[in-house]
Parts: sequence; structure tokens; C-alpha cells
Amino acid sequence: MLYQSPRGTKDVFGQEVEIWQKIEIVCRETFARYNFSEIRTPIFEQTELFARSIGTTTDIVNKEMYTFLDRKGRSLTLRPEATAPVVRAAIQNNLITPDTVAKFYYVGPMFRYERPQAGRQRQFHQAGIEFFGSSDPKADVEVINLAVDLFLALGLTGLEVDINSVGCVKCQPGYVAAVKQALQAQEKNLCDDCKERLKLNPLRVLDCKVKECQPYISQVPSAQKSLCPECQVNFEQVKKYLAARGIKFNDNVRLVRGLDYYTRTVFEVVSKQLGAQNAVCGGGRYDNLVINLGGPEVPAVGFAAGLERVVELLKNTAVAGQSAPKLDYYIVAMNTEARAVAFDLMAKYRALGKTAEMDFQDRSFKAQMKAADKSGAKFAVIIGEEEIKEKMLTIKDLHSGNQAREPWPR
Ligand code: HAM
Repeated sequence: MLYQSPRGTKDVFGQEVEIWQKIEIVCRETFARYNFSEIRTPIFEQTELFARSIGTTTDIVNKEMYTFLDRKGRSLTLRPEATAPVVRAAIQNNLITPDTVAKFYYVGPMFRYERPQAGRQRQFHQAGIEFFGSSDPKADVEVINLAVDLFLALGLTGLEVDINSVGCVKCQPGYVAAVKQALQAQEKNLCDDCKERLKLNPLRVLDCKVKECQPYISQVPSAQKSLCPECQVNFEQVKKYLAARGIKFNDNVRLVRGLDYYTRTVFEVVSKQLGAQNAVCGGGRYDNLVINLGGPEVPAVGFAAGLERVVELLKNTAVAGQSAPKLDYYIVAMNTEARAVAFDLMAKYRALGKTAEMDFQDRSFKAQMKAADKSGAKFAVIIGEEEIKEKMLTIKDLHSGNQAREPWPR
């Protein structure tokens, strides 16, 4: 039996890996332009961290976590997202205080036991940022602007920004009650999960993707109607600054996002070119998470972009096709002695900063020339008896077909 990669995971190689490398470089460059610095947290954390922050009644915590006991019986979980780990790390390492701003980014794999489909995997990758220490609506706009700039730098077009406000500790409970009341009369028509959500965490009904639930969800009142005066002003300011920066957005009154830690601004960047999983990025403000996890009173806002979805969109663009020739020299050896010389020459080229390759399978001259062509190398370097005797190399330009004699590199 041949082993297969686990369901919902993917091997990445060849041209696709080049797209990944390009994306990672652009992410790092764009984050650095906004003065964010990288933070690397463990792939697994204590299970309790995610339960406490994302919420015990969310789909992520309830159904999607890869949780296991280690040899000492401690419950650990592969990170389903990175906001909670970054907050944990920031508190533990004293990286945040109420009067300073701290800005972190991350790029890496996340794990959720979801039903795999196009754009949804069990091991997927996010590039994200977390901006600590400001409750100013300009910080929200800075973060949304960064997401927009990131996709622009990646060469993606046709994306839209959806925004909403889910209120604060003062007004969010009123909205939760309004949602509960609106849906209670329809309870029997909702899916079994939503019946449960309605009891435990009514806002999460709004994340439901089941087709039969959608007509009822669309009747739920707008979150913005329940906002307290401060949250209303705050949301208006976010929209004002977004407009001032020329960022177009849709006011999506039913956007609540699938994680419990959000307060005030929430947003997603969506693409019409993707199928059901159309969000390339999601984020928002989480002013109570740091304090809820035992840290100081520090407001925060951030987002994470789903890189599989970015790859999907980029595959259809010209950028994906560009791949620079990588090999300078493919060394072709005509006999056993020449092979040994070729082996040394290859090391010499590399020491000179060139890329070089040769045959390792004792193939015929003809097969080596074919391999040189296939490799995409700029030059084939031919070594035979004569070349060794005369201390010269025959160099064939594989693009033009021209051949010349050259001395050995020093
Ligand atoms: P999220 O909406 O759960 O938010 O995930 C962010 C993005 O990750 C999604 O928009 C999507 O592109 C991608 N994503 C999520 N699940 C999958 C999956 N199974 N397969 C492929 N891509 C996926 C968060 O994770 C928050 N931590 C974002 C945040 C940062 N909020 C504040 N700061």
C-alpha cells in the first residue's frame, strides 16, 4: 500500500512552490513597510488557550481542533489560528504595556479539522498581523489598509472589503439578545447546529453556511442598530478614515466572524473569483482579549490572510508563469575521468556564486545534452579528453546554440 498525505493536506512543489515563495516575500516586505516585526510562536499550545479566546461554543473550538494528550497527559492543540498564541506570547514575554504600541506579524501553518474543499484545507497557511496598544479608529484603518496594500502588492485585483461593527462589552449583549429574539420564532426551521448555537451563543448562528438556514439569518437585525453611542461614533470614524484613504468598502451588517473575541470593527476581504470559500482575509478589533488572557489592559486589532486562497487567485495570473532560469551551467562529461573533473568544476562554479548541475546517473553524452536542455540552464559545459588535455572548456550557449572554447575558471 502506498502512503497518502492526510486528508486536507497538500504537498507543494515545482512551479507552485515558487508562487508560495513569492507570496511569502511580498507579505514580509509589505508588513515591514508598515513597521511590523515577525513573531514566531509554537505550532501547538495548551488547549485551554484557544477555548478561552476563540470561545468554547464556536465551530473552531467545538469541532475543528486537533487536540491530543502528550505523554504526561497534558491537553495540547495544533494552533487553529495565531491571534491567541501571539497574545499569549506578548503577555508572557512582556512585549505589551498599556502605553506602548507593539506590532507583530506571522506567516505559517494553521490546523482545522474542516471538510476539505476548494480553498479549505485541514492544514492551511496564514499571513497575519496583530497591532497592540491603540483603540484609535485610525489603527483599524491602518490594519485594513495594510490588507488592501498586501493584495495590491501581490497583484490581486477584483477584491472587496466588507466591514461591520459588533459593538463592545456594553452593547454587544443587547445585539446578542436581539438576534436570539429574532431567531427564536424560527427555531424549528434551523439546522441542529443552529438550534444549539441559539441556546449557547446566538451570534454564531450568523456564521452558519447551511443553505436552509440562510433565509432566517438574512432576517436577523443589523448589528449596527444595537451599537452604543460610543461604538456608533467609532464606526463612523473608521468609515470616514477609510474613505479618506480611498479604500472602498461594503457595509455588511451581518458580518460577525466565527470567533468570539471580536469587539467593534470586523472586516473581511472577499474575492468574487473564489467559490464558496471567498474570504481571502479576515480580521477585526479585539479590545478585551489581552485582559481576558491575564494580560494588561491593551486594545488590539489585526487580520490574517489565507494563503491557499491567494495561491488559487495567483495561479490564474501572469505572475505565476514567470520563473527565471535558475541554472547557469549544466556540465556534460564524456568519460569517467571527465566525470571526476566535472564534479570538481561544479564545486568551483558554485564557489564563484554560479548555479551548476551535472549528471549523477552515468548517462550517455546524448542523454546528458538532452538533460542540459531540459534543465533550463543557460550553458552546457562539455568536458572530454581534449578539454582535459588542453585545460579548456567547451561552452555551448543553450539559447543560441553557439559554441565556444574558454579557459577553466580560476
Ligand atoms: P479566520 O477568518 O478564521 O480569522 O481566518 C482568516 C483567513 O484564513 C480566512 O479568511 C481564510 O482565508 C483563511 N482560512 C481559514 N480557515 C481556512 C481553511 N480551513 N483552509 C484554508 N484557508 C482558511 C482568524 O484566523 C483570525 N485569527 C484573524 C485575526 C487576526 N483577527 C484578528 N487578528
